[in-house]
Amino acid sequence: MNRRTFYLTFIYAVWALIGFVLGIPAAIYLLWPPRPKKEAGWIEAGSLAQVKLRTPDEFVFRRNRVDGWKVTSEKSTAWVVKMAENQVVAFSPQCPHLGCAYHWVAKQNEFLCPCHASTFSIEGEVLTGPAPRALDRFEVKMEGDKLLLGPVRQSREAGS
Ligand code: FES
Repeated sequence: MNRRTFYLTFIYAVWALIGFVLGIPAAIYLLWPPRPKKEAGWIEAGSLAQVKLRTPDEFVFRRNRVDGWKVTSEKSTAWVVKMAENQVVAFSPQCPHLGCAYHWVAKQNEFLCPCHASTFSIEGEVLTGPAPRALDRFEVKMEGDKLLLGPVRQSREAGS
């Protein structure tokens, strides 16, 4: 082997190595299907022990979101109302009009959205404002004092 052949062989070997190293992630990306976008099943949101009857309480919890290869943990909230001893409702924290965060106003006994002044009853029904429908609700499950939240179910549009 002369010097010229040696250098050419060496350069081709380096190129092959670089191509192989770069090709592995590309092959994984192309051949390995991403996980479908989904939310975790039931999420433990907190304890119902301190929640008073018909007094909305904002629960703060973390939940994981899976999108392709990415799993993110994000802070989330829900407005929880104990309607009776064994009946709990959890409202999604976004206003059904344009998605602003609303809050409970104890003096007026209603939820108020500060963006366009929609108000909602403690049952989540629209009282005033441009909101097109009642507050969306999480599916809920109780295990003892623990509150588990499932997916959000969109309420029906008013008049439909
Ligand atoms: S976003 Fe709540 S009233 Fe418009």
